[in-house]
Amino acid sequence: MLLDLLHLLTTPAPSAQRRLGYLRDSIWLMSRARRCRRAWAPHLEASRAVMRAAIAGAERRDTAVVLGSGLLLDVPLADLTGAFRRVVLVDAVHLAPARRAIRAFANVEMLTADLSGAMALMTGGARDLDPRLPPVCAEPGTGLVISANLLSQLPIRPVDRLEASRRPLGAWTREDGDAFGRRIVEAHLAALAALTARVCLVTDLDETEEDRQGRVHARHDLLYGVRLGTPDRTWTWELAPFGETARNRRLTHRVAGFADWRR
Ligand SMILES: C[S@@+](CC[C@H](N)C(=O)[O-])C[C@H]1O[C@@H](n2cnc3c(N)ncnc32)[C@H](O)[C@@H]1O
Repeated sequence: MLLDLLHLLTTPAPSAQRRLGYLRDSIWLMSRARRCRRAWAPHLEASRAVMRAAIAGAERRDTAVVLGSGLLLDVPLADLTGAFRRVVLVDAVHLAPARRAIRAFANVEMLTADLSGAMALMTGGARDLDPRLPPVCAEPGTGLVISANLLSQLPIRPVDRLEASRRPLGAWTREDGDAFGRRIVEAHLAALAALTARVCLVTDLDETEEDRQGRVHARHDLLYGVRLGTPDRTWTWELAPFGETARNRRLTHRVAGFADWRR
């Protein structure tokens, strides 16, 4: 708790990220990752394996970009820095453990950016969604862009805010939550599809809440009905084992990994 507060006070983050809750979310995720280290290990290793396959298959070896780099838990950073001249890590928030981890490498840069295109809309700085990837993704030297367990996260804050507010966000009203979420997911995929670099996509697809007898109590589509094609592999991420959110309930996510998504 005290450690969380310290991160809240000392992390350099733009005011929008602070105000809209992105900094708090990152700190909360870091704490959960610590508590659930053992349960998360197979998921993190499976994610890294898909990214390693993507690195091995990349033809251009100048720049690699990781979107949603976060705490670098699922990112094989040493493999990336060994294979590419430059590695660019993009996230809304970069916490201290990630800032420390990159000090060991001379060819890593961090970029703070909103990848949902919704932050300016939420702060009143834009009239509609403006989803775009940082220009480095489209540079001619960029051979690999990894979307690292990011896609399902992009709509969470924007949809919560839209649905909780009486005021519309631009032309979007609180009844539009699902369409708004779907638009954010589709926009990220469209932006990835337009790149010439190899695209590696790792994302969770849905969430299941079950009891100790294996009975399913709820299931949510995290991508608002958007379908991705056939992944190289899928696996289950035990996001919240029994006792994490409730004594007799656990949350699992189905995850898909594409080493070369556009193929
Ligand atoms: C599940 S975590 C990904 C884990 C990360 N790859 C790791 O290894 O720690 C999702 C990440 O997406 C980031 N994120 C969520 N919304 C974002 C946005 N609008 N723009 C940029 N990053 C965002 C979060 O800050 C978080 O780091």
